[in-house]
Amino acid sequence: MNRKGIILAGGSGSRLYPLTKVISKQLLPIYNKPMIYYPISNLIMSRIKEILIISSPHHIKLYKNLLGNGENLGLKFSYKIQKKPNGIAEGLILAEKFLKGSNFCLILGDNIFFGKDIKKKFLNASNSESQSIFGKKVNHPNKYGVLKFKNGKVNKIIEKPKSLVSKYAVTGIYFYNNSAIEIAKKLKPSYRNELEITDLNNQILDKNELNIHLLNNEQYWYDAGNHSDYVKTINHVYNYENEKQLVGCLEIEAFKSSFISKKKLLKYINNKSPFYKKLKNIL
Ligand code: G1P
Repeated sequence: MNRKGIILAGGSGSRLYPLTKVISKQLLPIYNKPMIYYPISNLIMSRIKEILIISSPHHIKLYKNLLGNGENLGLKFSYKIQKKPNGIAEGLILAEKFLKGSNFCLILGDNIFFGKDIKKKFLNASNSESQSIFGKKVNHPNKYGVLKFKNGKVNKIIEKPKSLVSKYAVTGIYFYNNSAIEIAKKLKPSYRNELEITDLNNQILDKNELNIHLLNNEQYWYDAGNHSDYVKTINHVYNYENEKQLVGCLEIEAFKSSFISKKKLLKYINNKSPFYKKLKNIL
């Protein structure tokens, strides 16, 4: 059975305040596209067509306006409200009906991934029957979930550790089997009153059922959730698009994944903006 996709676009965006005073964080621009385009493009490159967008009662309508039903890209979007920011793992519980027993990929709406062969990595994880998460070496790991190693193997993940555990952060893309929902349902809220994705990952890890892949130096990951990382992300995407190739471009990814024919896609792109002109030339 094909994997489905879940994007979490909730939260209060308090670390990006006042940018997020009237705008949902995952709709803020990353150079020339809304932030959520990037995780959507990662799902498309993982050959995932059915995607659930989860957001707050206040913001869900904006996502519907932006993305519609997804038909023009060969996708199928559904929407679900998360009443309160109760944590990433609550997303699994909210998605149960949508998933109808399918395995899935959960990706955070403020996480940006791009770089050489990243598609290959995500597609392998998507096509496999097993469950995978991705780590990345970073300079300041302690603001994330962090991989703890013993004898060269990960034996635990620690959420926002106080002291240095390792330099490897856990990124916000997770490939799970449907059985992960049952684990999520039994989680207890953490000190920050959230159902933690790290608690869920540790349980799967304890059962020896979690594959942990590392992104390399040419595979980039940003969590654009605070001001300085937000700006760094924009700069890097800008440079990468000018020097190498477009990233986070839904039309291009949908075409590359054969979700939609070039002819049909060109019919949809009748916008005169420079961005769409550029796309037309590439296609
Ligand atoms: C969340 C997860 C953390 C992960 C990070 C990736 O952190 O809890 O394990 O490393 O996303 O962006 P939060 O954004 O909730 O602080």
